[in-house]
Amino acid sequence: MQSVSVFAPATVANVGCGYDVLGFALEKPGDRVIMHLNNSGQITLDRIEGDQGLLPKDPEKNIVTAVIKYYFDKLNIRQGVSVELYKEMPFGSGLGSSSASAVAGLVAINELMGNPLTREQLLPLAMEGERLACGNAHADNVAPSLLGGLVLIRSYDPLDVVRLPYPDSLHVAVLYPHVEIPTLEARKILKTNVPITDAIKQWGNVGGLVAGFCTGDEQLIGRSLQDYIIEPVRAMLIPDFYQMRTIAMKNNALGFGISGSGPSVFTLCNNPDTASRIIELLKNHLAKEGIDSTGYISAINNQGPVIQQSNK
Ligand code: HSE
Repeated sequence: MQSVSVFAPATVANVGCGYDVLGFALEKPGDRVIMHLNNSGQITLDRIEGDQGLLPKDPEKNIVTAVIKYYFDKLNIRQGVSVELYKEMPFGSGLGSSSASAVAGLVAINELMGNPLTREQLLPLAMEGERLACGNAHADNVAPSLLGGLVLIRSYDPLDVVRLPYPDSLHVAVLYPHVEIPTLEARKILKTNVPITDAIKQWGNVGGLVAGFCTGDEQLIGRSLQDYIIEPVRAMLIPDFYQMRTIAMKNNALGFGISGSGPSVFTLCNNPDTASRIIELLKNHLAKEGIDSTGYISAINNQGPVIQQSNK
């Protein structure tokens, strides 16, 4: 039987000031999908692990199988396929959980079909998975999960996605406080109008951040990691957000922000030891408040999805 196993990584979307336009992939956590072709003519979701029974079992509603249907529709294929989804990351966490499932599913089915589509051509299908997950087809999680590295979505219409360079020294400390914030809700509370004075500060920072990544200027990256528009609204959903920022910045972080729509927060550091120390401090701080959390240390993952096993 033809089968494949694919891992797709979690992501940090927005990267401070780049709401819906910047994101990077993490080395871990992520999702794993095992997929088998068969003669049933149906897409079935045979197993989900690691979701505490919370994700939909209906193949049309679960992202991992829904995107396979989009893929088959695009290529006019009718093929039986059975899917196993291993959630190796939390969801509702701001780490791009639905994106990792969509990307793992698409890369797996594309591999089984002989890779008729490039990773770039898979992107619009993964974005439709995001629309199913939260009502909006943003690309700042799916693009870095699919393409790896640090990605700028310069335009949505037409879609124009740019992979950016970044200094190898960068390490990310991600802390996931165990509270759930659905992306749909975290988008609904945002203001729809932005004062021009805030917009000026924001696009100055987006430009500075991109310039800092491209030139490897860590101090410029740090100075530019400021969000005047989204963070002030969402910070109130995250326990002790400003206290955590103070701890990170006092301990040599380059910058600190909300990962995606939260509650996870991320700290950019210029070495792994600083990232580890900050994670411990933040975890201890939240523990004193009675909040459990999980920490992840990662470099930026330039590789994206990995085909772990392929038998075709
Ligand atoms: N850009 C999206 C948002 C990412 O902030 O709503 C969601 O993870």
